[in-house]
Amino acid sequence: MKAIDILVDEHDYILKMISIAEKILQTDDYLTVDVNHVESIVDFIKNFADKYHHLKEKDILFMEMEKFGMSREGGPIAVMLHEHNEGRDFIKQAETGIELFKQGNISSFLQIQENVLNYCQLLTQHIGKENNILYPMAERILPVNVGEDMTTQFEHINVSTPQNEYHDKYIKMVEELGEIYL
Ligand SMILES: [Fe+2]
Ligand SMILES: [Fe+2]
Repeated sequence: MKAIDILVDEHDYILKMISIAEKILQTDDYLTVDVNHVESIVDFIKNFADKYHHLKEKDILFMEMEKFGMSREGGPIAVMLHEHNEGRDFIKQAETGIELFKQGNISSFLQIQENVLNYCQLLTQHIGKENNILYPMAERILPVNVGEDMTTQFEHINVSTPQNEYHDKYIKMVEELGEIYL
């Protein structure tokens, strides 16, 4: 599979998880919310969206784009990296909210809700920019052999469990939650 297609494919799973998160959290009644499912979503975001997907962008794709003339300090790559950080902050806040909520602090539901939904909004538009602007730009500036090298490098991205196992675990999570909520 072409490197960019792998990333677009991962976006599809992230967007599906975003729809699930919105379905769960767009409510005023916290009693209808299964907090274990919200925890799974946060796990997916931290590990699949951030560690697995954003790492491929940051350490491989953006690095190659830099070699072919794009700046990391300004322009679209800087914006994308900034948004990865912003997303990480929302998720940290949501995690704290989940901890407090599980300890019985009901009012921290708002903290979970606000931060997860902000993340969903941020990532939806972030993915739109990558799919429609940044990735087409990468396909224009990167030679074909670089694209092929990136596919190989993607397979060696640093994750604690074997690549396929890791990937399958999170895809299964999206599919199972999708069955329940979508
Ligand atoms: Fe990104
Ligand atoms: Fe992305």
